[in-house]
Amino acid sequence: MDATRQRFLMCRPTYFAVDYAINPWMDPTVPVDTALAVEQWERLRRTYLDLGHTVEEIEPLPGLPDMVFAANGGTVVGDRAMAVQFRDPQRADEAPAYRAWFAAAGFEVTDPKHVNEGEGDVLLAGGHLLAGTGFRTAHAAHAELQETFGYPVVTLQLVDPRFYHLDTALTVLDEQTVAYLPEAFSPGSRAVLRRLFPDAVTATMADAEVLGLNAVSDGHHVVLPAQAVELAARLTERGYRTIGVDLSELRRAGGGPKCCTLRLRQGSEAGK
Ligand code: ARG
Repeated sequence: MDATRQRFLMCRPTYFAVDYAINPWMDPTVPVDTALAVEQWERLRRTYLDLGHTVEEIEPLPGLPDMVFAANGGTVVGDRAMAVQFRDPQRADEAPAYRAWFAAAGFEVTDPKHVNEGEGDVLLAGGHLLAGTGFRTAHAAHAELQETFGYPVVTLQLVDPRFYHLDTALTVLDEQTVAYLPEAFSPGSRAVLRRLFPDAVTATMADAEVLGLNAVSDGHHVVLPAQAVELAARLTERGYRTIGVDLSELRRAGGGPKCCTLRLRQGSEAGK
């Protein structure tokens, strides 16, 4: 399996906090160690650089504690970026900040008409855009994504509130393969996943509960939460090289490595 060089967008957790609860992982009564979050994030960034990837950074804004979760800032395929619209008012002001970054970086930006939380719910795999719904991204947003990018969109129904974004329940390993937690999806969506990805790696609930599926693969190296030991073993068996990172402090907001990482897919990778 060959690794593909990636270009990522990340946002330093300078103002990270858990001040509100918009998913079951968040408990605003327990104080967060922002310095530790920055340290863990910095190690993740370093890991990408050591793998030869490029990391762009967007300036964090005060008062937006979840802005570190750059995956929710948009969906990028080739030279097009689809901006986002958050479900929750607490995150609304992140959308224009990310939109401005895409425009300044030269992407052709499309604005969404429906709730759309970017790569948190939209992943490109095997020539399809896999799109989650049920908690955040609206089903109506899926049609907009298909029109914008010209990839067939496969709707996947999420059913467990702990796995509220698609990227907490499924990870794309390479062009042909994904790993996922079957229990996070409706019976119909499980059947779709079995049909599309007969060779998929399935994860255990224990792996998913440490956000193990919130992983970032370059086709060979898979960066995932260090606590997801069973998943790491299954991936190693399949020939991937796993790299465990500890993002425990960010997990208190319900996010892992993938949430912190927006993929700026370009050129051949985007199939163009
Ligand atoms: N606290 C954030 C929220 O609930 C976490 C977002 C995690 N991002 C992700 N791509 N899953 O919106």
